[in-house]
Amino acid sequence: MKWDSLIEAAQLVRDRAYAPYSGFHVGAAVLMDSGEIHLGCNIENRSFGGTICAERVAVGSAVASGSQAIRAVVVISETEPPAAPCGLCLQVLTEFGGPDLPVVLINPQGSRQEFVLADLHPYPFQLPPQGLGRVSG
Ligand code: THU
Repeated sequence: MKWDSLIEAAQLVRDRAYAPYSGFHVGAAVLMDSGEIHLGCNIENRSFGGTICAERVAVGSAVASGSQAIRAVVVISETEPPAAPCGLCLQVLTEFGGPDLPVVLINPQGSRQEFVLADLHPYPFQLPPQGLGRVSG
């Protein structure tokens, strides 16, 4: 696994976070099965609901460039212990990385925690096998 390159990339992109409202800067780097690395930082908005997390920016960059299969993800934030992705980001990462996706969480102080996605999000939303039509009864 290219952890060193992913960690370096996540640290770099964290410096590009646009977070004037929270002051909380997050960087994310996703390694795709193509070998490409895609990056994301959090981008806040004065209409707070318009904020998007670093992880989903990275996934969006990958998908828009034609890569959909995530092999690993690194997230850097400044908390101790390092912050886990929010529920929305966990659901989106599950879509493109699956339950066994390796997830490394770090902070600038040097803490590092490694998980697989299912540790952090054991019960992702799944579409019912019969589809989303009206369930009888
Ligand atoms: N944030 C992320 O970038 N990733 C997460 O998984 C959780 C939160 C950002 C969103 C917002 O800009 C700031 O952190 C505070 O919530």
